[in-house]
Amino acid sequence: MSACRHHFNRHSLHPWADLPGLGGDDSTPVIVSGEGIYITDDQGRRLIDGPAGMWCMQTGYGRREIADAVAEQIMQLGYSTAFSTINPREVELARRIAGETPGDLNRVFFTTGGSTAVDSALRLCQLANNIKGQRQRKHILSRYHAYHGSTFLSASVTGKERDKTAMDTLQEQVHFLSVPCHSYHHQELSEEAFCDFLVQELEDRILELGPENVMCFIAEPVLGSGGVIVPPANYNRRCWEVVKKYDIVYIADEVVTAFGRLGHWFASEKVFGVVPDIITFAKGLTSGYVPLGGFAVSDRFIEEISGAASGGNIYSNGYTWSANPVSCAAALASWDIIEREGLLAHVREVAPYFQQQLRTLLDIPLVADVRGTGLMAAVEMRLENGVNGEKLLAQDYAIGELVDSYCHQFGLLVRPLINVCIMSPPLIITKNQIDDMVLALRKALVLADADLRSRKKIA
Ligand SMILES: Cc1ncc(COP(=O)(O)O)c(C=O)c1O
Repeated sequence: MSACRHHFNRHSLHPWADLPGLGGDDSTPVIVSGEGIYITDDQGRRLIDGPAGMWCMQTGYGRREIADAVAEQIMQLGYSTAFSTINPREVELARRIAGETPGDLNRVFFTTGGSTAVDSALRLCQLANNIKGQRQRKHILSRYHAYHGSTFLSASVTGKERDKTAMDTLQEQVHFLSVPCHSYHHQELSEEAFCDFLVQELEDRILELGPENVMCFIAEPVLGSGGVIVPPANYNRRCWEVVKKYDIVYIADEVVTAFGRLGHWFASEKVFGVVPDIITFAKGLTSGYVPLGGFAVSDRFIEEISGAASGGNIYSNGYTWSANPVSCAAALASWDIIEREGLLAHVREVAPYFQQQLRTLLDIPLVADVRGTGLMAAVEMRLENGVNGEKLLAQDYAIGELVDSYCHQFGLLVRPLINVCIMSPPLIITKNQIDDMVLALRKALVLADADLRSRKKIA
């Protein structure tokens, strides 16, 4: 990797920017092109894109069909505003989404990405309660380790404590439940008993707050950037049953899990038996080529706040690029590819192999845990014990960076989330490419492990 490139990137500020290091040596890879599951850096090195961009490059890079659809749409109608007009692309895309969402989730609102999808969904819930004369219903239930975005509201319901550092968030109305990760806590319990504990905790919290005061429960079916946490069997369904028992809105945040990542258009019902009131989505909708997100909401929800029931209110929430025709054209082209190439079935076929091969890495001492489902997995690296939280975090980042730099040498881009390597490749990945990916990761982890041991000996 090239070093001392701070002049090259003098003027951008990146998400999750490392402020102490800002303006210093920057080893962030510069990526210049992509094809299939591969990207190429400015040194000409070809890398497997382990996290598929950010879980979004479903159909892979270099899709002429998506480029053509975007170019044609730009020439036909490069922009239209959803505030006052309708474009045929959004109509068709909303129709397709409604056709794949569970239950009566037939109304689709388009946003610019996942954070704005979550934000817009939460604001719709607030509005609905105000319209229905339930202004006290403000509490939001979320989980530790959840990631829901970077607007003020979506960041507020995000439960990744390490990410919040000194950022302000809404505190009083947001309540975090235990992370449903058995390897993190309560290992003395069986998986079933652990699940009972989690479900009971949810019900207790609802009763504590008063069900009439709880606006919604928001949950990723599998926690994504919180570390690919696959909850215990039946957890999602049982939580949904509790939430519905008290007539509370259930929001499934499928920004990561939709559009094939778990082998289905949407995972809520097909994989977990849950029919949410609202599903938020983004990322893989356009295969990551252009920004687009949104949510689908149930007819029942909308009926309660529209027409005669609306009290004359409007849903005063939207974006310049809501339902943007160019973004919708990209989404339709990506959708066509997923259908034509049978990528949902492909994921269902290769996912067990992907999970099984990654689990072979557990023989490396540095690897503490490998978990996942579908084409999403986490390889978690063992951390040093420490007393000072800040110092510990720096050490944890250093372990991730070490593995990352070795991976880069062996042709794999990982960009670990602290000490967790997120593996969520483009859906088109083949079994041979999975082998290449796991081998590169193995070599990197073995070298990092040896490095850390020798450093300890010296210290
Ligand atoms: C589950 C989930 N929700 C919301 C978001 C936010 O999406 P975006 O980055 O498109 O705003 C993300 C992004 O990683 C996510 O994983």
